[in-house]
Amino acid sequence: MARFPPNPERRPAVVTGASSGIGRATAIALGALGHPVVLGARRVGECEDAAAAIRSGGGEAVAIHLDLADGDSVERFAAAAVDTLGQVEIVVSNAAQNIAGSVLDTGPAEFDGVLGVNIGGTHRLVRGLLPALVERQRGDVVFVTSDVAERPRPAMAAYVTSKWGLEGYVHSLQMELEGTGVRATILRPGPTMTGMGLDWDPEVTGAVIEQWAAWGFARHSNFMRPAGVAEAVCAVVSLPRGTHATVIELQPEAPIASPSDHEARSAPSDDQGAQ
Ligand SMILES: NC(=O)c1ccc[n+]([C@@H]2O[C@H](COP(=O)([O-])OP(=O)(O)OC[C@H]3O[C@@H](n4cnc5c(N)ncnc54)[C@H](OP(=O)(O)O)[C@@H]3O)[C@@H](O)[C@H]2O)c1
Repeated sequence: MARFPPNPERRPAVVTGASSGIGRATAIALGALGHPVVLGARRVGECEDAAAAIRSGGGEAVAIHLDLADGDSVERFAAAAVDTLGQVEIVVSNAAQNIAGSVLDTGPAEFDGVLGVNIGGTHRLVRGLLPALVERQRGDVVFVTSDVAERPRPAMAAYVTSKWGLEGYVHSLQMELEGTGVRATILRPGPTMTGMGLDWDPEVTGAVIEQWAAWGFARHSNFMRPAGVAEAVCAVVSLPRGTHATVIELQPEAPIASPSDHEARSAPSDDQGAQ
């Protein structure tokens, strides 16, 4: 059986989109596990607040400005991450943008803007940080995608395209990384209660959700908490070497039905009773 040298005790982690939602929760959870954490996003003040929370709990964390749409910013971020906390062992590529809009309603500039961050920015980050992981023959890269990649839906054309494309990108990368010791994971959340989409006009949001419901999405109203998704990221990067989580999908658990609902579901219908 193949043997892998153990991971070092100190495993610095980079989290993009750490200013809010899933990224912030992930940075805090990794920090609590003892990982030194670099938190990146454009709202660096929000990242600094989360970094301060990690430090006050006894952890190590720094906030560094990052704009994934800007190649120079990504290069500066990657270099500063290593300079500040040492060689990166874990990358959580989480940041993304989402805009509402059908294929016909989304202008080319808006469309390019979303793809430029969600795919182009991810690629810049990978080029900046992954070569060192490959050279050291170890490390984890977790790509936060979305269940819209597996089950596309209407009215978010640019976002759905970007997440579908991102999963294709990671599948290719996984093949290219085979045998390097570096594990790449697709972590695909479903609905999670974060700020994403909250800046949309409520009328637009209502219309989008109606379209989703018409196509059979949104089976129930529960959302996951960012901390739950963060736990899954921690579990993925904590797996022993030799075990590779390739694709993980997370969904909110449905509300627990009342006993009378269960009875109604399991009682035979009149048709069944007559057979
Ligand atoms: N919420 C959901 O229901 C859900 C479902 C499936 C998948 N996801 C995925 O989960 C991930 C996190 O999203 P979230 O729900 O936590 O939403 P969120 O709170 O809006 O977080 C998005 C993060 O991306 C960062 N970001 C956006 N543009 C950026 C740029 N140009 N450069 C650097 N950072 C940028 C934002 O930071 P700044 O604005 O400060 O730059 C923010 O920290 C995303 O990949 C999203 O697609 C979310």
